[in-house]
Amino acid sequence: MAKDFSRMEDSNRSTNPSIHEMSSPTRRLLLRGGLGGVAAGLLGGLGGCASLGLGTASAGRGIGFASVPMRAVDQVVVPAGYTASVLYRWGDPVGATAGQPAFRLDAGNTAAEQALQAGMHHDGIHYFPLGSGADGSARGLLAMNHEYVDDGLLHADGMKTWSAEKVAKSIAAHGVSVVEVQRQGAAWSVVSPSRYARRITAATPMALTGPAAGHALMRTAADPAGRTVLGTLNNCGHGATPWGTYLTCEENFVNYFEGPEQPDAHQKRWGLKKGNGAAYRWHEHEERFDASRHPNEFNRFGWVVEIDPADPTSTPIKRTALGRAAHEGAALALTADGRAVVYMGEDARFEYLYKFVSRDAMKPGGAAANRELLDHGTLFVARFDADGRGEWLPLVHGQGPLTAAQGFADQGEVLIKARQASDRLGATKMDRPEWTAVDPLSKEVYCTLTNNSSRGSNNQPAVDAANPRANNTMGHIIRWKEDGDLDARRFAWNHFVLAGDATLARADARGDIRGDAFGSPDGLWIDPRGTMWIQTDVSTSTLGKGDYANLPNNQMLACDPTQGEIRRFLLGPAGCEVTGVVMTPDLRTMFVNIQHPGESPSERSDPADPMKLSRWPDGAGRPRSATVVIRKDDGGVIGS
Ligand code: FEO
Ligand code: CA
Ligand code: CA
Repeated sequence: MAKDFSRMEDSNRSTNPSIHEMSSPTRRLLLRGGLGGVAAGLLGGLGGCASLGLGTASAGRGIGFASVPMRAVDQVVVPAGYTASVLYRWGDPVGATAGQPAFRLDAGNTAAEQALQAGMHHDGIHYFPLGSGADGSARGLLAMNHEYVDDGLLHADGMKTWSAEKVAKSIAAHGVSVVEVQRQGAAWSVVSPSRYARRITAATPMALTGPAAGHALMRTAADPAGRTVLGTLNNCGHGATPWGTYLTCEENFVNYFEGPEQPDAHQKRWGLKKGNGAAYRWHEHEERFDASRHPNEFNRFGWVVEIDPADPTSTPIKRTALGRAAHEGAALALTADGRAVVYMGEDARFEYLYKFVSRDAMKPGGAAANRELLDHGTLFVARFDADGRGEWLPLVHGQGPLTAAQGFADQGEVLIKARQASDRLGATKMDRPEWTAVDPLSKEVYCTLTNNSSRGSNNQPAVDAANPRANNTMGHIIRWKEDGDLDARRFAWNHFVLAGDATLARADARGDIRGDAFGSPDGLWIDPRGTMWIQTDVSTSTLGKGDYANLPNNQMLACDPTQGEIRRFLLGPAGCEVTGVVMTPDLRTMFVNIQHPGESPSERSDPADPMKLSRWPDGAGRPRSATVVIRKDDGGVIGS
C-alpha cells in the first residue's frame, strides 16, 4: 500500500564503493546446499567466472529482452516474444471443492461466498512445486497474500450502508490463498477441486508461538491464555522457507483498529488513535477491533505468520520471535551450517530494518521437522554508519537499554514493542524499508526503500548516509554484504541505485539509474539465475504527476546486479501496483500479481462507476486484482 509523497531534492550520494567480492568457498557452499538441481544446472553456465562481485560481468545472469516503453495503458504489457495471461482473479473460486460459487460482476457475492473465493488485492506470492524435475514446473501450489480491500468495489453500493455482513465480507477478502495450479502445454489453470486449495482470512484461527506467546500484553477476554488469535490482515510481502512453508507478513494493521481518545505511549508509538477504525469500519461489528474495549488485541497483529501450504488442515502460526512490526516481507536464507536468517523491512517512515537468526539449524524432514525452528533465535535491528559499515544490534532483554528499568519487563515485551526497543538501541531510521532479497549467488542482500517525503522536513529526521535525499519521493535500493556468513554482526553497505527519472529538470529527482526510469521500488526478488526483479508501487495519487509526470503506470524491471543496467520488463494496468513475483523451478513460467487496478487516489472506488479508471482484466463489471502468468513464446527462460 503506497502512501503519500510530493517532491524531492538533493542527492548527496556517497561514492559507490564495491562491497567485497564473494569468496569461492561461499560459492561452493551455495552450489552444494542452497539451490535445487535445475538452478544449479543453470549456474553451470557461469563457467569460470571467478568473481561475482559488483560491477563484474557474469555470463550466467544477464537480461536479454527489449525494454518496454513507458506509456499509459490499461493492460499488462510485456516485451516482444512474451505473453501474459490472467490466471487467478479476485473472486475466482479457490477450488477447495467442486461447484464453488462463481464471481458476480455486480459484487453480489455474499461473505460466505467470498470466503471460498480469491481475496482482494493480491500481493506477495510463492510457488511450491508438486513433484520433482519437470513435473514440479508443471504443477504446484501458489500461496499468495490478499493485502487489503477497496470497499467501493467489494460491495454493490460501496460503504453507503454498513452491516455485519459487509464487515464479514471484508474480513473474508483479506488473508491468503493457497491454490493448486497446473500447466498443459503453455497454458496454466487453477485445479478445481484440489485437496490443497484453501482460503485463510482475517477470521481463521491461528496460534501464537515464541517468546511473546502467552504474554500479559497478548491476553484478551476471548483468549485469556494469549496463545490463539483470529486471523491475519494487511498481508503485504512474504517469504518462503526451504522446509516448504510460506511466510506472510502483517503490514499496516493499525488501520483496522479504532483507537481510544487518549492513546497511551505504546499505542502512540504504533500510530493507534481515535478515528483509525473509520477506514474499514470493522470495529462497528467486531468489537475486538475497538482498542478501547480490547486493548491487547492490537498487540496480536504485526507478526510474521508461517503457513504449511501442503496441509490444508494446518493451523497458521504467528512467530513472535521474529518481532512485531508493520512487516513488509521476510526473505529467508540459510547460513552455511543451516540456520535460518530472515531479513525483514518495516514499511513506515523512519522505521527499521530487521534480521532474525535462528538458534538451531534446519533439519531434514520438511515442515514437520522444523515446526519450532522460527521460535528460537535472536532478532537484530540495523544501524548503518556513515563510513559504509554497519552493525546488527540485538533486541535481547537484559542487554544494553532493554531492561525492566527501561520499561521492558521481559523478552516478550521487547518483541511486542520492537519499535521502542529499536529506538533505544539507536538503530537507523529508514525511508520505508520494503522487500528484502538475498542474492543467491553473491549473498549480497538488498532492500527497497520506497520513498519518504518527510525526510528532512521540519521536526523530522534529517538525511543520513543511508537515506541521503531529503523529501525522497523516488526511493532507493540499499545493499549490504555481511562480514562472513549471514549471521554476522557487522556488514559493509552501499547504495545499489537511487531511483528517479533522468529527464526531469529538477536534479534531485533524477537519481542515478543506468537504464529505465522508475520510482517507489517495493517488490524485490532475485531469481535463482541471479536476475533481480524490481516492482514499483507509486501511489495512485502520484502516478503521472510531479516527479512522476513521465511515469503514469506502475511497472516491473529486471537487472543483472553484477552489471547494473535496469531494464523495464512489464507495465501494469491503469491505477495498479505491481507486486509479488516468482517463477517455476525451470524459470520458464513467471507469476506476477497485479494489485488494485483502477484504484482511485482515495484508495476507494466509486461504486456507481466502478470501471471509471480501469476495465482490467475483464472489460466488464469492475477491475479485479489478479495473478498473471508470463511465458516466453519460445518456452525459454524468463528474462534471458
Ligand atoms: Fe503493502 Fe509496503 O507495501
Ligand atoms: Ca506498497
Ligand atoms: Ca508492498
